[in-house]
Formats: sequence, structure tokens, C-alpha cells
Amino acid sequence: MNAGSKTRVAVNGYGVIGKRVADAVARQDDMEVAGVSDISVDWRPRMATQKGFHLYGATGEHAQAMGDAGLDVAGTLDDLLGVADLVVDCTPKRIAAVNVEIYRQRGIKFIVQGGEKHEVTGHSFVAEASYASALNRKSTRVVSCNTTSIVRTLTALKHAGLLRRARGTLLRRATDPWESHLGGIMNTLVPEPEIPSHQGPDAQSVDPDLDVITMAVKVPETLAHLHYWSVQLTRAANKEEVLDAFAASSRIALIRMDAGLTALNAVKELMADLGRAHDNLYEVALWSDMLKVEGDELFYAYMVDNQAIVIPETIDAIRALTGMSRDAGESIAKTNAALGIGSLADVLGRR
Ligand SMILES: NC(=O)c1ccc[n+]([C@@H]2O[C@H](COP(=O)([O-])OP(=O)(O)OC[C@H]3O[C@@H](n4cnc5c(N)ncnc54)[C@H](O)[C@@H]3O)[C@@H](O)[C@H]2O)c1
Repeated sequence: MNAGSKTRVAVNGYGVIGKRVADAVARQDDMEVAGVSDISVDWRPRMATQKGFHLYGATGEHAQAMGDAGLDVAGTLDDLLGVADLVVDCTPKRIAAVNVEIYRQRGIKFIVQGGEKHEVTGHSFVAEASYASALNRKSTRVVSCNTTSIVRTLTALKHAGLLRRARGTLLRRATDPWESHLGGIMNTLVPEPEIPSHQGPDAQSVDPDLDVITMAVKVPETLAHLHYWSVQLTRAANKEEVLDAFAASSRIALIRMDAGLTALNAVKELMADLGRAHDNLYEVALWSDMLKVEGDELFYAYMVDNQAIVIPETIDAIRALTGMSRDAGESIAKTNAALGIGSLADVLGRR
């Protein structure tokens, strides 16, 4: 690492997740963007250079094509890895699994995203659950958006001693908004072919003790995912205790129907009004007034902004792998402050 100065972070793959990761890194006072690498030559890498990030081509051919397209190219991924302390791979599913061989050969620490399998790094990361076991490791995988939300919420219940088992139904957005001209579904619902869907077992890759089963259906919209959960508690509890458990996590925002946040688009509009980058909802947005406790049974629903929820986790994963913060709470607080996480509580006033 660059002794005594900021951690230099390379971002490989400047798409939906990569561009958000780069923006978030740039907002931290203890890290900086060493550069971003990609293969495309259209408007997207142009935004990287406009933001002041150094742009690299994934290979010599890609760098050449970028130069030919009039882009200001600093070199290849190989060059970028030479000026970085760590690389966050945000390339599409399964490409990172190939790239990690390059990172291993170069001896550079790396983070992959949720499109890759747990086995690619042997460690799966959610800040509130597995920060300590990621400390000073060579690599980790920030789990998918849905899995991140599951681990955050169930960890909060577990920390309060309330979690026995959890069963969830996930309504999954069909595609990302900016790609909705390319694919997605319309006028139908597509059930995942198997129960359990993969998110429950994936949550167990972070915390093997979780008793969790998920079912999922793809729905024809692009804004966010919506989860419905039924949880058996360890004992009869009241609503306030459960809300206290969720409120103890800074990455769960308690929102209210009676505040007008009655649908996914309304919550996204609030993120835009807050002036958040890309209208990002980094938190799990959980409806406190809809939540119901019946004896030892708990029912609730929440929204997951799939494009945003893994961004703070990625920042914390950088601090864990590099050992910049030895304490999860310290890193989470730094990330939250830099990204404006916590601002919802100020707006809504009460839970
Ligand atoms: N989109 C989401 O909502 C979401 C949420 C959580 C996790 N993830 C995960 O994040 C990862 C990235 O997903 P995304 O949605 O940002 O994908 P994306 O398609 O939006 O972006 C990928 C970027 O990588 C570039 N790329 C492709 N091949 C490359 C290569 N060989 N070298 C360098 N760059 C290359 C593409 O040009 C593109 O800019 C995946 O593992 C995905 O599963 C995505």
C-alpha cells in the first residue's frame, strides 16, 4: 500500500455498479480512484474522463479502440494495476472469475461483485456480518443486492436475539433502468423455477447459521426489488422491540406509508430530492407502519435499490482488505458520513 497516504483503488468495469463504486471511492477521505478500466467506447467511458478519472482499456486492443474513438486513454488494465493498491472488479457476471487470475498473478488485492460465486474468493462480505473475517484478506466477494439486504435485516434481528428462522418472497426487478430498451419482461410475471431461490443459500455463504429460505419472481419493472418476509422469532415480542432491532442498523432505513412513501417510485423520488448521486438508496428501506408482530411471528416488507445497496459494502470491503479500519463500526460510520447514509431519519423525523 501507498505508505501514509490514501489507498489507490482501481475499478475494472465502469458500468452500473462500477461507476457508482468509483463515485463513492472519490467521496472518501482515505482512498482515491487510481483509474477505471473498461472495453466500451461509447458515452459511458467518456463520463469517466469527464469526472476526472484516468481511463484504461482492458487490453491493448481495447485501449487502441478507445484512443481511435477520441477517448483520452492512460493505458491498459495492466498499467492500471501497477498504480493501484486494490482492484474492485465490476465487470459482468462470470468475467471477474477469469480476471481474478490476472489479479493473483500480479499479487494485488481484489474485490468481486455478487454475480460471481462464493468460491471465486472463498469469502463473502456484508459489512455488519463479516467485516472481521475479511480483515487483511487478499480478496472478498461483495454479495448481490438481494443477499446484502437479507443479511443486513436478519443480522439485525440476530444481534437482538430475536431470530429463529426466516422465509422470504422476493419480487425482483426485470432489468436495470438504463438497459430497459435491450431486454426485460413486459405484461407477465416470471417465477424462478426452483424453491429455494439462490438468495437464501447465498446469505448462508456470509452467515452459515442463518435459517433462511427464499422464493423469487421476476416482475415487469426496473426501479428496485421488493421483499416480503415472514420470520419466526425466538420468543413472543412486541413491535417496538423489533423496530429497535432494525433501527440499530444504520444501513436499514425505517420508512412509513403514512409519510407518503407508498411505493418504490416515491422512495426513489425522495432519494433524488435528497440530491444523492444517481438517486441512490443505499439502505434497506423497510416500512415500519406496515410491520406486524403476532406473538412470536413477524411480518414485514422492504425495498432494495439493486443498483445502490452494494456500494457502501464495497467501500467497507476495501477498508477491511487493506486493514485501513480494523473495526467494522468505524468503517461503516466513515462510509455512511461520506455517502449521506442516515439522511432519511432526518427527513422522516420519527420511525
Ligand atoms: N446491476 C445491478 O443491479 C447489480 C447489483 C448488485 C451486484 N451486481 C453485480 O455487479 C457486477 C457488475 O454488474 P453491472 O450491473 O454493473 O454490469 P454492467 O453490464 O452494467 O457493467 C459492466 C461493465 O463492464 C464492462 N466490461 C465488460 N467486459 C469487460 C472486461 N473484460 N474488462 C473490463 N470491463 C468490461 C462493460 O463494458 C460495462 O461497462 C456483476 O457481478 C453483477 O452481478 C449488479
